[in-house]
Amino acid sequence: MTDNEKQPPLRVAMVGYAFMGAAHSQAWRTAPRMFDLPLAPEMTALVGRDEHRVTNAAQRLGWASVETDWRRVVERDDIDLIDICTPGDTHAEIAIAALEAGKHVLCEKPLANSVAEAEQMAATASRAREHGVRSMVGFTYRRVPAIALGKRLVEQGRIGEVRHVRAQYLQDWIADPEAPLSWRLDKEKAGSGALGDIGAHALDLAQYLTSDTVVDVAGSLRTFVTERPVARDHSGLSGTASSERGPVTVDDAASFLAHFAGGAMGVFEATRFATGRKNALRLEVNGSRGSLAFDFEDMNVLEFYDGADSSDTAGFRRILATEPDHPYVAAWWPPGHGLGYEHGFSHQVVDLVRAIADGTDPAPSFADGLQVQRVLEAVEISSAARGWQTVPA
Ligand SMILES: NC(=O)c1ccc[n+]([C@@H]2O[C@H](COP(=O)([O-])OP(=O)(O)OC[C@H]3O[C@@H](n4cnc5c(N)ncnc54)[C@H](O)[C@@H]3O)[C@@H](O)[C@H]2O)c1
Repeated sequence: MTDNEKQPPLRVAMVGYAFMGAAHSQAWRTAPRMFDLPLAPEMTALVGRDEHRVTNAAQRLGWASVETDWRRVVERDDIDLIDICTPGDTHAEIAIAALEAGKHVLCEKPLANSVAEAEQMAATASRAREHGVRSMVGFTYRRVPAIALGKRLVEQGRIGEVRHVRAQYLQDWIADPEAPLSWRLDKEKAGSGALGDIGAHALDLAQYLTSDTVVDVAGSLRTFVTERPVARDHSGLSGTASSERGPVTVDDAASFLAHFAGGAMGVFEATRFATGRKNALRLEVNGSRGSLAFDFEDMNVLEFYDGADSSDTAGFRRILATEPDHPYVAAWWPPGHGLGYEHGFSHQVVDLVRAIADGTDPAPSFADGLQVQRVLEAVEISSAARGWQTVPA
């Protein structure tokens, strides 16, 4: 028996079991084995719509029971937390019902498909919080050690006053015009395209790193391929095509200029057409005293330029963020034995479980998710109007 098994249980139900469902399952399984947690997560119920498929998934991913309607886990007394790993069109309804039933909620990003939905979710979360019910949005990349280290350096004043933020999220999985339609290319299901799917991550990370918020945007959205084969089946980012064709109703690529409240300028880009770039979530922050740079394709590394270094040896240094005093790393492997994509999800579970046990609010909150949604909507309005748009406070 590990120490965690002696702790009070945190009984989890998860909705959706494909890409994020698998990532979250491994996190619920692994976090309590590698970190000392004040509560012992139990993988109590998995929800899917097809009984046969959800039963197979539960066996594979390690869930104790299954339900075919998410409303059942909202009603069940043996569930403390609902983890939402479904497309954006379902987030608001499930999260609001779960919070109103007194369940803690972890909801995948983007929080919702519209500002109106996100406002309702944030208001419900704020009421639930008064009863000790916690909520968090799955902006997982905050939990990459190199990113968390970068935040620490900014907070310590190591780069001084932030002047420039350059943030890109570059993928290429639909660069082929014959890549099939999936829910991510359907506005009804996804809310928006590259903007909300991956631009939201770049935006959240930029605001997190700088502890600042975007207040004005000038955006541009483009759909390069307007019709594609309908998917026969799909999961995560891949699928197989049928002979039927259907419309793409979201942006393929988005870019926007931004002003931060603190005076910094931002340049953001999100695309799934950057051929050769697979998951290049990149940030560069230039401050008055130094700079930071990060690329998820080399995720264990943070680049840091310290303007205080003497000019003969000054330059970007490549910090391998695998030392025990780097955020989250002490629980894992010896220095240099790098972490991967899945570790951010384990760290997300660690932070959430500790916040629930401590009675504090985990971050990012639903209010943070709403603020991201407001920026995304302002980018869409600005693109349509071809001008700057103020982000509502
Ligand atoms: N944090 C991250 O880095 C990250 C990465 C990828 C996706 N996401 C987000 O995670 C969410 C899910 O994305 P995904 O890539 O896992 O999608 P996916 O297509 O791989 O899986 C979606 C799952 O939801 C299920 N589902 C859909 N509607 C449902 C309903 N009404 N009831 C029950 N199950 C339902 C599907 O059957 C499937 O199991 C999205 O909000 C997405 O933006 C976050």
